[in-house]
Amino acid sequence: MVPIITIDGASGTGKGTVSERLAKQFGWHFLDSGALYRLLAVAAERHQIAFDDVSRLTMLAEKLDVVFAKGHILLEGEYVTEIIRTEAIGNLASKIAALPTARTALLARQRVFRQLPGLIADGRDMGTVIFPDSTCKIFLTASIEERARRRYNQLKEAGREADLTSLVNELTERDTRDKTRAVSPLKPATDALIIDTDKLTIDQVVERIIQAAKMAHLC
Ligand code: DC
Repeated sequence: MVPIITIDGASGTGKGTVSERLAKQFGWHFLDSGALYRLLAVAAERHQIAFDDVSRLTMLAEKLDVVFAKGHILLEGEYVTEIIRTEAIGNLASKIAALPTARTALLARQRVFRQLPGLIADGRDMGTVIFPDSTCKIFLTASIEERARRRYNQLKEAGREADLTSLVNELTERDTRDKTRAVSPLKPATDALIIDTDKLTIDQVVERIIQAAKMAHLC
């Protein structure tokens, strides 16, 4: 059995940072499932495939030429590590992620990440659909204001343009789409530990998850 901790939640809840920290600390593999949907969105733009062209998008997802290499991501042989992180690509990824056949096409790609010594899986449906047998499921939440503020600070630190009101609107729109889609909507697994990160530091969230992993005898 390969131990696995699933960490789900909406954008800006700190999932990515917390997951990477845990993977490093435990020496486990890390699955950033959102990156796969973002890569599919970039590939769709490059091949001029509309977000509602289900059959072409599904074929694209099945054949997606992606390499994850030591913190870098290559799409069709080109480095796209930064390109996939824009708000526009996040939005397009969320639209494409609502297509059931595109999701199915990405299923096996996600499950192969489950390898010894263990896996930290970050996403929206890790605990509910992709790895439902995980014995340590975490669901992170935070208020929309706090999430928008975190994203604003990230963008500013990266020297990019940012507007708090637009970020609140974009996050709200993306949340609604991710939560209400018919297949694999964003929601906590019934056996997930829900952590509200509003008033917690990254270190405190990491510590709570380590405690949960200990309780589940994973470390
Ligand atoms: O986590 P993220 O912001 O990189 O994800 C981008 C979009 O991809 C998100 O809005 C919804 C979709 N997604 C998904 O549907 N299922 C996942 N497991 C991960 C991401």
